[in-house]
Amino acid sequence: MLKKEILKQLLDSEGSFVSGEVLANKNSVSRNAVWKAICSLKNDGYKIVSAHNRGYCLLEGSHMLSTTEICRYLENKSLDVEVFDELDSTNSYAKRIVSRGLTNTTLVIADSQTSGRGRLGRSFYSPKGTGVYFSYVYKPKTGLASGVAVTSAAAVAVCRAIREVTGFKSGIKWVNDIYIDGKKVCGILCEAITELSSEMAQCIIVGIGINVSTVDFPEELVSKAGSLRVKNIDRNRLTASVVNHLETLIQGLDKRTFIDEYRRLSLVTGKTIIYTKNGVETKAVAVAIDDDGGLVVRHFDGTETTLNTGEISVKL
Ligand code: BTN
Repeated sequence: MLKKEILKQLLDSEGSFVSGEVLANKNSVSRNAVWKAICSLKNDGYKIVSAHNRGYCLLEGSHMLSTTEICRYLENKSLDVEVFDELDSTNSYAKRIVSRGLTNTTLVIADSQTSGRGRLGRSFYSPKGTGVYFSYVYKPKTGLASGVAVTSAAAVAVCRAIREVTGFKSGIKWVNDIYIDGKKVCGILCEAITELSSEMAQCIIVGIGINVSTVDFPEELVSKAGSLRVKNIDRNRLTASVVNHLETLIQGLDKRTFIDEYRRLSLVTGKTIIYTKNGVETKAVAVAIDDDGGLVVRHFDGTETTLNTGEISVKL
């Protein structure tokens, strides 16, 4: 508790010194207790310098993923936030929370994942310290249809957050891969947990992985994967920004308030794509995004169809 408070106070004066005496008085503890909390924060990896007669200074840009820091930026203060150094997969962990009974909307974040999961049974490369990997798990108020729309809403939320925090413009490759300069910088895996007796999703897990500063991708990903390529970005702020936007968009989910923005961000409309259905590959032109986020494609014989799931290949 003291450690959290001291971290908050150092963050409020990031880059400047705060005296040990001020910290001790603010928290009604001894200076020795302050010193112990500082040692523990340093142990966690925070870059804090101390100077005689000046106190302690948290160096700018020395952000670790932490509940305290994420909560500072979250608009929804009632969210449960759990941060881990390492998890198998934040989506799998979220499923475990659901199976124990989800009592509150929860955000699970990991600094690295040992078995990060992607769409269509693929894995998601999740190295330590260079990305954000998180799952937002909630009980939807309306039916399963919203579960489908949430995947497009999540893509819009990520694009907004990247723009807000880095200034970079990103785009969406249908259905919810986020690209910058022809490389995928973020993947989204939405999973719905349903009860067989009900049409309604019991819980929805929105899993988001953003490559922030990753450069050393494995061989098989090098040509496709990219990152925001910014070193001192605050991953706490980026995570919170995605969640803030996601929560706003989820509120307007039934009215599809985000769909025009999704259309503007879409990188595939007007492009020739290849989609696979029942094992057959078909070439077509992506002509539009419908109101539910489906991709309307036109075949070369003039017929049209709408894709609602699956994946397309397209040159971006
Ligand atoms: C994809 O690109 O196919 C989707 C990737 C989704 C990755 C994120 S990282 C956080 C969350 N936990 C997981 O195991 N997967 C998602």
